[in-house]
Amino acid sequence: MANINLKNAKSSKNDEFYTQYNDIQSEINAYIDFNPNVFKDKTILLPCDDPEWSNFTKFFINNFERYGLKKLISTSYAPNSKPKEISYQPTLFESIDPRFDENKTLEKGKIFVLTKDENNDGKIDEKDLKWNYLEGDGDFRSEEVKLLRNEADFIITNPPFSLFREFFNWLVESEKQFLVIGNMNAVSYNEIFPYLRNNKVWLGNNCDKNGGAMFYEIPESIANLEQVREVKETKDGKKVYITRVQGVRWFTNIEHGKRHEKLKLMTEADNIKFSRHKEIKDKGYLHYNNFDAIDVPFLDAIPSDYKGVMGVPRSFFDKYNPEQFEIVGTDTKEQSAEIGIQPIGEEWVRKYKEAGGTGHITANMRNLSYIDFDGIPKTPYARILIKHKEN
Ligand SMILES: C[S@@+](CC[C@H](N)C(=O)[O-])C[C@H]1O[C@@H](n2cnc3c(N)ncnc32)[C@H](O)[C@@H]1O
Repeated sequence: MANINLKNAKSSKNDEFYTQYNDIQSEINAYIDFNPNVFKDKTILLPCDDPEWSNFTKFFINNFERYGLKKLISTSYAPNSKPKEISYQPTLFESIDPRFDENKTLEKGKIFVLTKDENNDGKIDEKDLKWNYLEGDGDFRSEEVKLLRNEADFIITNPPFSLFREFFNWLVESEKQFLVIGNMNAVSYNEIFPYLRNNKVWLGNNCDKNGGAMFYEIPESIANLEQVREVKETKDGKKVYITRVQGVRWFTNIEHGKRHEKLKLMTEADNIKFSRHKEIKDKGYLHYNNFDAIDVPFLDAIPSDYKGVMGVPRSFFDKYNPEQFEIVGTDTKEQSAEIGIQPIGEEWVRKYKEAGGTGHITANMRNLSYIDFDGIPKTPYARILIKHKEN
């Protein structure tokens, strides 16, 4: 049983991970705290969200009145377009509806719309949700879903992991406000980094929870039992498996307070005297061989008075306040030449090999590199190059 599930999980591209209600709630709170009217009279599109599974849909239905929404649109992806391991059972509300069509329910996506108290029971809730089949399978790239995107003020979801780059392009092309879940690695993607650098997109709030990991609900049929943390049972007897995924972040262009909080920092001299990191205390900072910047391996060791460029870990984006810092670039293969990182050079590679280095590094690569305090050549992992903002 465990092996079958493991095999299935590998072939399903792990796109069927469902976000937990609490995680949605705590993230949305940050935007409401910043601006209580952020969603007032607005239309929200949830473009990868079947209310049977999606807590996004449940969450915004439950908060429709509180947030003063104008319209909620949730679209789902056709069961036949999903990995075949995902079994589909029409919900009761769907199968007793006169519109129910046995073929369409597998082939077509669906649209769910909430606008008003349709049944006049004095409140707007899931009973007022209207639904219909879409023309196509609900692919976010389809013309009909694009039209819904263009109608919306906000696009909010956890999109399929395997299509994140494409989904991101689809979002920015719409020029709408959005809040979506993605992997932390995406901050360095060519398609995404320029938006972060130019303060058109930033990270949300979840990094302080579970170190940026997120717990997801996954259907039984694709659950990788080795990774399952907990098994829950829903009211209707459906088993829900909970799994933990590391390095997950919200990507957004909606304002929140945390991105305006200043990182509290010590001067370079105080870091050398008092830093809690043995790599910095009594030593200081290393300068790269092939780029005019120092390496700062810990965010709390960024010197407050250093005027030049500093290479910091990617988690910097969790603390990035655009009033405090500017982003110069990053050291990925595609972007390092653009900002002038020089090839690592024969001399460095020779020293690296002499010191026992076994990584595949050649002289023409433009990885940031330095020689550490013990004379060992090193390349730090995935740096973002930043500067203090001049006021
Ligand atoms: C990571 S899951 C998240 C679902 C839901 N948004 C949530 O957070 O609970 C992504 C969903 O997108 C659906 N999906 C996959 N490819 C899609 C596409 N091309 N267009 C629309 N939805 C897609 C998957 O079937 C899956 O239900």
